[in-house]
Amino acid sequence: MSLRRTLNGIHHAWTAAVVLALVLATGALAATTPAAAAGSTLKAAAEANGRYFGTALSDGDLGVGGETAVVGAQFDALTPTNEMKWETVEPAPGSYDFGPGDQLVQFARAHGMRVRGHNLVWQNQLPGWMSNLPLNQVRSAMEAHITAEAGHYKGQVYAWDVINEPFNGDGSLVPDAFYRAMGPDYLADALRTAHAADPGAKLYINDYNIEGVNAKSDALYSLARSLLAQGVPLGGIGFESHFVVGQVPTDLRANLQRFADLGLDVAVTELDDRIQLPASGGALQQQAADYAAVVRACLAVSRCVGVSQWGVDDAHSWIPGTFPGYGAATMYDDNDRPKPAFAATLSALGGSSTGGGGGTTGELRAAGAGKCLDVPNGSTTAGTQVQLYSCWGGINQIWTHTAADQLSVYGGAGRMCLDASGQGTVPGTKVVVWPCNGQANQQWHVNADGTVTGVQSGLCLDVSGGSTADGAPAQLWTCSGRSNQQWTLG
Ligand code: G3I
Repeated sequence: MSLRRTLNGIHHAWTAAVVLALVLATGALAATTPAAAAGSTLKAAAEANGRYFGTALSDGDLGVGGETAVVGAQFDALTPTNEMKWETVEPAPGSYDFGPGDQLVQFARAHGMRVRGHNLVWQNQLPGWMSNLPLNQVRSAMEAHITAEAGHYKGQVYAWDVINEPFNGDGSLVPDAFYRAMGPDYLADALRTAHAADPGAKLYINDYNIEGVNAKSDALYSLARSLLAQGVPLGGIGFESHFVVGQVPTDLRANLQRFADLGLDVAVTELDDRIQLPASGGALQQQAADYAAVVRACLAVSRCVGVSQWGVDDAHSWIPGTFPGYGAATMYDDNDRPKPAFAATLSALGGSSTGGGGGTTGELRAAGAGKCLDVPNGSTTAGTQVQLYSCWGGINQIWTHTAADQLSVYGGAGRMCLDASGQGTVPGTKVVVWPCNGQANQQWHVNADGTVTGVQSGLCLDVSGGSTADGAPAQLWTCSGRSNQQWTLG
């Protein structure tokens, strides 16, 4: 057994332990969990609760297969990491570059994701010309920037972080160029300007260290109440939620609720949970509990519209670069394998990565073995023969039966299809993954009698030799009615 396979097994055990720990910790899970089998992906489970589950993504990562496959399969909201920030969009006065942001919007559209625009007004990542602008020109520069950018993306973004991180820790406003030029008036002015440019977008103030009740969140609360009293088009508050493992504020839910009670949407916008490296098993389990706690807090507040993670996987997280010695902050490891936090998050959303939904997306579970159809090691190599393996919720076990009768895995740019190798139509033909090409050897009927038949060959998807062992290869075989040809999708 390879190391990775061994890790898969360990992972599976962890997942079970985490779910069990959560059941024990919450006691009355049945009473608080939304309808069972709400989905086997983050987005399906979130949508079943009327929420979205998002991630930040950079344009430079659009070509990274494993990462984009996870995004396409699991997330239904996208926040461009840096591509809509001022230094990228308006590097010289009045000269705009929407190219990188447009690419991400296009990716989001192609994958049915909403976009959170991030951001319009922030002291960081400002181009030099803007930082050095005479104060009497700042207002017009800010209004022009907002008008141009929110106008460009009009109708394409669900929400804008119009104002990013305006507060210091003590609740005073950051004395950035905007504040120095306009005082606190810049906040209302920015929101009004954005609303004029894109009346359909929800307009947010987004900040960090405001997740619990403290001086900073109190100041934001007062500001929000006063802006609303003046009729300023503030629509929501973004709680970034860059946590340290084990330190999710216990009053997160109550704090979200007080903002929601003002008539605002609230959202967790940049969730991650950093761990001192190397991450111990215990820390990863605490992280799983932390992610679940955040999800439960959001679900408990009806105006909490969704949760977004900051970065898809540990390899693309900002944490190691900014907090040396820390990392492992996301739900996916460096190789895009789901960590315990993934299963805990899915479970907190009422979803399940262990099947039972009967839908068109989920695990393809072999009835005889109680195991899953699996792409070995999450391989993206065309021609990799699929196999039976213990179900563990990985993206290499999540299949979608499409309207075109494909059984696809991964999604996004990395999407691959279940394929009868070499267009074989004889018993013993290997069943492999191959880039989806629409041919008949990639079409499958998922039948009411539990069989999965190849449209071209008429043969059944079969576990070789009736084996129930991890690693048993899948092939085409004459339909026999035996349990090694019985599958459930969902
Ligand atoms: O692209 C340049 C590259 O050419 C250059 O060689 C390299 C040298 O350091 O820098 C690269 O730019 C970096 C950029 O990310 C793109 O990767 C910047 O140095 C780096 O500072 C910048 O960091 C971003 C950070 O915001 C800036 O404040 C992070 O990627 C981004 O994840 C982070 O996101 C913020 C949110 O916008 C607001 N909330 C906090 C969150 C985390 O800091």
